[in-house]
Amino acid sequence: MVKIAPSILAADFSKLGKEIKAVDKAGADMIHLDIMDGHFVDNISFGPGLIASVRKSTNKVFDVHLMIDNVDKYVQDYIKAGADVITFHVENTKYPAKVIKMIKAQGIKVGLALSPDTSINKIGKYLEDIDQILVMSVNPGFSGQKYISQEEKVKEISQMIRCRCISIEVDGGINDKNAPNLIKAGADILVSGNYIFKSSNYKKSIQKLKG
Ligand code: DX5
Ligand code: ZN
Repeated sequence: MVKIAPSILAADFSKLGKEIKAVDKAGADMIHLDIMDGHFVDNISFGPGLIASVRKSTNKVFDVHLMIDNVDKYVQDYIKAGADVITFHVENTKYPAKVIKMIKAQGIKVGLALSPDTSINKIGKYLEDIDQILVMSVNPGFSGQKYISQEEKVKEISQMIRCRCISIEVDGGINDKNAPNLIKAGADILVSGNYIFKSSNYKKSIQKLKG
């Protein structure tokens, strides 16, 4: 069954611990944490300090999505803060193999992210070493953007990996209308910010995404 990862970027930051507990109770499978540095993307979100302080709100997997430059310089900070999976973008990372190794050496999972215009060829040579592929269905940087169809890319990746050993995660603009097609195409994890956190019933929204 598909897993749902609420992105806390769309949550009410004035009561973040409560928001995380609420989605945990509502059936979230993991918590998606979007890190933006104002360089790789135009937005600034939060850093390892916040992650460390909300780590005690839930035991669910912390799925950290780095949208930052100089990933290698910061990876340790996010691991120390409590990340269970760290995903970074191939577009702005000079030596992905080195960063993959750094993350794996700490005993946590690693993912590679692709912006909507990035070809899947960029990740082909890393398949042996990664646990997750994050397919962006908006351009990285902001929550609440309009969904850009990625079903074809998800299908191509499913065929390319030919196993269930790498999870395919889709992120951006996901709602109950586009979720069924993404699941059909082969998505294992759906990230969702606004659709869940701006709804009046988190449980119902998560159930609707699961189909
Ligand atoms: C965009 C982020 C997404 C975003 C998802 O750069 O990576 O995780 O917060 O939020 P929604 O579902 O509102 O697009
Ligand atoms: Zn994200």
